[in-house]
Amino acid sequence: MNAYKRNVVESKLRALHSDAERDIFRMGKGFLKSVFRPIQPADFENVYLPISEKQGEEIRQLIVDEHCQEVVEFGTSFGISTIYLADAVRQTGGKVTTTELLESKAKRALQNIKEADLEDYVEIKIGDALETLKAYPKPIDFLFLDGWKDLYLPLFQMLEPQLHQGTLIYADNMDMQGTKPYADYLWKNKKAYSSQMIHQGKGMLTRVS
Ligand SMILES: C[S@@+](CC[C@H](N)C(=O)[O-])C[C@H]1O[C@@H](n2cnc3c(N)ncnc32)[C@H](O)[C@@H]1O
Repeated sequence: MNAYKRNVVESKLRALHSDAERDIFRMGKGFLKSVFRPIQPADFENVYLPISEKQGEEIRQLIVDEHCQEVVEFGTSFGISTIYLADAVRQTGGKVTTTELLESKAKRALQNIKEADLEDYVEIKIGDALETLKAYPKPIDFLFLDGWKDLYLPLFQMLEPQLHQGTLIYADNMDMQGTKPYADYLWKNKKAYSSQMIHQGKGMLTRVS
């Protein structure tokens, strides 16, 4: 890939990660609402909640090394992780299908992805991923889970028919309580899935046996 394209991606990522550092100041309102009722995705409409640069760089490299082409993401937010995924599939000749519940976030993600010059490699499905990824039509090579945590397991089970031997699944925020049913399911099905915790217990990488 030429140096100009690389520079466009890296500078967009740098700008987005830098803006995301201010998440902490934007989150207060969402947490305040959760005093009275359970937290909802709309409470964090103005917040990135992104993967780290280290996670993004390693996931991108993994997709390239494993030559994954069909990549599916649960939880776009403003598109930081999607840019890493799209940059990887640009190198493998694949595409990313990503899903975001909130239209306003999906619109900003698309703008960011365009500014990284990666829109040809991404389709954003707006709405609940349990609906928008229903009957997903193709075998999936890499599945990235980073949406609402208690949906990891139902979403994974819905997509299971499209996983194949060697499919990689990366789940973020595995240190959060809501992900436990997903982790338990994988540990119980050790014959089908081989998993390891990485990124100081934040990420879980699974390979379909
Ligand atoms: C942790 S953020 C994703 C961060 C993003 N992957 C990144 O690293 O830049 C989780 C996102 O999932 C979205 N989300 C939550 N529930 C969802 C659902 N049922 N379907 C699709 N997206 C959902 C939220 O609106 C939020 O933007």
